[in-house]
Amino acid sequence: MIAVQGLQFSYTHKPFIEQMDFSVQEGEIFGFLGPSGAGKSTVQKILTGLLPHYKGSAKVNGIEIKNHDHQFYETIGVDFEFPSLYEKLTAKENLKFFASLYKTTLPLDPLLESVGLLTEANKKVASYSKGMKSRLNFIKALVNDPLLLFLDEPTSGLDPSNARVMKDMILSQKKQGKTILLTTHNMYDATELCDHVAFIVDGKIRALDSPRNLIMERGASKIVYSYLFEDKEVSRETALENTGDDQFLGTLIKENKLLSIHSSEPTLNDIFTELTGRKLQ
Ligand SMILES: Nc1ncnc2c1ncn2[C@@H]1O[C@H](COP(=O)(O)OP(=O)(O)OP(=O)(O)O)[C@@H](O)[C@H]1O
Ligand SMILES: [Mg+2]
Repeated sequence: MIAVQGLQFSYTHKPFIEQMDFSVQEGEIFGFLGPSGAGKSTVQKILTGLLPHYKGSAKVNGIEIKNHDHQFYETIGVDFEFPSLYEKLTAKENLKFFASLYKTTLPLDPLLESVGLLTEANKKVASYSKGMKSRLNFIKALVNDPLLLFLDEPTSGLDPSNARVMKDMILSQKKQGKTILLTTHNMYDATELCDHVAFIVDGKIRALDSPRNLIMERGASKIVYSYLFEDKEVSRETALENTGDDQFLGTLIKENKLLSIHSSEPTLNDIFTELTGRKLQ
């Protein structure tokens, strides 16, 4: 669905993206994970045709982006970094307006219903909360039933329950066979949602793999357990492969004296810092 080879781009005389290569398969969620200013939105803007002055090749659905025609926009949906809605119009009027830009569109009421906004559909967007605006902005990207979705920081600034709603909507789009490219600096979202993740820093991809491989290949997995000693909780750890040989742990289990036990892998954040020398936030 997306094939990027030898991509170069600069905003000024200084190159920002010098050499970028990656591809995204049909039906997958591909994430760009990186700190602020890394170039995540820049890559999305190139792939949605907003920054055509790039070098190298960036193809979306087989089309070299700088040569796209209007038909291209019928096939993609974009949820921009900052909500772009008309505050003086109602939610329904907003959707109607954006739907009028496309040849084919989905029925609007079921879309509004799917994100719990049908009963609020005739209220002006100015009266909407941030979470409601995010949900509306998301379905705005779906009105043309796109094959490919570009989501820029879809969960940024949302409280946990609105972030959950947003993540479930993203996963439901994947189930329908859509290809999704999202950016985030939230490692939990990247781990949960993405089939592949590219770590991006200063306009360069530093690593690219599935979150599981990134974590498992580098993680020395261990078991961490705790027990009571002189009325205080004490923790111990043992390498995962040596668990069976840990006689102390065996005794705690037999005597039913374990307080807690869990495996401890590094997080995507730890791996990011190890590989890039930078923190995500
Ligand atoms: N229109 C522009 N003109 C000049 N420089 C720009 C422009 N847009 C972005 N930049 C610069 O390019 C770099 C990458 O910006 P970009 O928006 O791609 O980062 P990002 O990874 O999306 O960050 P964030 O997590 O804060 O959204 C930044 O240094 C930014 O200042
Ligand atoms: Mg950005």
